[in-house]
Amino acid sequence: MSDTSGSSARKPMIEVRGLCKSFGDQEVLRGVDLVVEEGTTCVLMGVSGSGKTVLMKHLVGLMQPDQGTVKIDGEDIVQLDEAGLDRLRRKLGILFQANALFDSLTVFDNVAFPLRERTKMSEAEIREAVSKSLAVVGLTHAAQRFPGELSGGMQKRVGFARAAILQPHILLYDDPTAGLDPLTTASVNEVIFTGKQQLGATSLVISPDVASAFKVGDTLALMHEGRVVEMGPPEEFRRSEHPAVKAFLHTWLQRQAQRPR
Ligand SMILES: Nc1ncnc2c1ncn2[C@@H]1O[C@H](COP(=O)(O)OP(=O)(O)OP(=O)(O)O)[C@@H](O)[C@H]1O
Ligand SMILES: [Mg+2]
Repeated sequence: MSDTSGSSARKPMIEVRGLCKSFGDQEVLRGVDLVVEEGTTCVLMGVSGSGKTVLMKHLVGLMQPDQGTVKIDGEDIVQLDEAGLDRLRRKLGILFQANALFDSLTVFDNVAFPLRERTKMSEAEIREAVSKSLAVVGLTHAAQRFPGELSGGMQKRVGFARAAILQPHILLYDDPTAGLDPLTTASVNEVIFTGKQQLGATSLVISPDVASAFKVGDTLALMHEGRVVEMGPPEEFRRSEHPAVKAFLHTWLQRQAQRPR
């Protein structure tokens, strides 16, 4: 890393403080604190139903908090009007849990979509940008295919190419390796790494997959009972004394041991 000034000086790009959200009498978020510093990748883990996707929806302004603040690149997004939110979303590349690709558009047109919507680029420029982007995710050959004709892992890579095409400062991934086999998982992890290396992007990866977390994360965090109960570099996280972290890692290791080979 070129930063020699001490790692504490980085700017927070995602800053969540005291975030609370309930649905009826179900308190899903009970005071979430989470900071992701510029240029780093944070992996947020947690069991199914712990509120990871709900948190992500707050980061992009799709849900409003009951309490607390959400700052993206220094801006409090709860205070923004629609125009402000729209401007902010341009800084974000978002990969939702379901890929949300357009089934009736080819891979090429899916990736080109944000360029056509958001920029005044010519068709020739769009063609060049999309070709480059598909090459990065290894899908040059699939440009004219439709999402329904692709494997799950290929769809994820198209989703990434589309999320990254406007070269966002911040990439948000919700469970990018869900349901994928180990090889495809490895290729998605590569793609996340590419986002960091080539775009210098700040990334928040939501994933229950511990192996992926240790591969791609500069910091790891665990969501438990509505809060982020631990957050730190991988080695620190591994040695955490927090009972929820120990239980989470232990359960994962046990499952790994029971997997058929
Ligand atoms: N719009 C909503 N209305 C009511 N309840 C909701 C809504 N969205 C989420 N919830 C509830 O909030 C809880 C957390 O859901 P969330 O989708 O954030 O879980 P998650 O951690 O992303 O799980 P998974 O790993 O399975 O994706 C769940 O109990 C869910 O039923
Ligand atoms: Mg989820």
